[in-house]
Amino acid sequence: MTDFMGELCVLSGNAHQSLASKICEYLKIPLGQAEVFKFPNDNTFVRIKENVRERDVFIVQPMSVPVNDNLMELLIMIDAAKRASAGRVTAVIPYYGYARTDKKDQPRVPITARLVADLLTAAGANRILTVDLHAGQIQGFFNIPVDELTALPILVDYFSQMPSENLSVVAIDIGISKKARDVAERLKVPLAIIEKRRQGNDSNAQSLNVIGDVKGRDVLTFDDEIDTGGSILSAVDALKVAGAGDIYCCVTHPVFSGSSLEKMVDSPIREFVATDTLPIDVGQCDSKVTILSVAPLLGEAIHRIHGGLSVGALFEYHG
Ligand code: R5P
Repeated sequence: MTDFMGELCVLSGNAHQSLASKICEYLKIPLGQAEVFKFPNDNTFVRIKENVRERDVFIVQPMSVPVNDNLMELLIMIDAAKRASAGRVTAVIPYYGYARTDKKDQPRVPITARLVADLLTAAGANRILTVDLHAGQIQGFFNIPVDELTALPILVDYFSQMPSENLSVVAIDIGISKKARDVAERLKVPLAIIEKRRQGNDSNAQSLNVIGDVKGRDVLTFDDEIDTGGSILSAVDALKVAGAGDIYCCVTHPVFSGSSLEKMVDSPIREFVATDTLPIDVGQCDSKVTILSVAPLLGEAIHRIHGGLSVGALFEYHG
């Protein structure tokens, strides 16, 4: 591997060590040694247990539950790497938390996605590597380079084996319709869009209308994440009312708060496909749930960033 920036080093916090290990397998390097733990007083402590002086350090840490602890671990690890004289520090954040608090859309509310960006930069991150931000504009909250990867080709590739003559892709809401259009185009099937409404700040989503023809057709729903499952379960009801056939569902980020995974499994959804940007234990639900790994994608992106190669070239699509 070309050493563009000094020797490569991949470290992990406690959020998703199995993903970090898979990334290292792809890169054919050992996972860097670090200890990350809490003192009895709840203060997080980090010690990087190998030399990182002038090295190109990548710290893998999605903002999964417990979100604030995992974010704090990441900030402290960045600080530790900077103070150990790392040459460059990249925060690898497969799932960027607080991304849905990205605008001041009511009086006296914060823009927490921006605050998190400021915290990462203040801690000393030189770059960010992430996957499918809730809103691409979050890249602009940073004054350091952000590489946003997409898991879309991984998900499309999985469903490309499905018979497509009776299939439609369904965007779960208008916000995701552009990405859903990409999925539909790649699968060469029509697109339908659900008009969704959320009342206030609670998590209850209501699917109002299905725009497009799904009657008698199998459908593949697409969204960036499932959190409480409110959006998808409400969409399933609307699709059934509209006469849809089998319902398949894919998302990049399986947040699955509370009992939402169980609710999904008990729903008419035939198969649910997501990636491992967040740790997920599918437990007894594995016959209905498929998890595809983003480790090769992140590993290849790290290889390219480290070697000064194009990351965009990973996503060139020639219909
Ligand atoms: C919302 O705008 C997103 O695209 C997802 O639809 C949303 O985050 C899913 O949340 P939940 O599963 O709680 O409805």
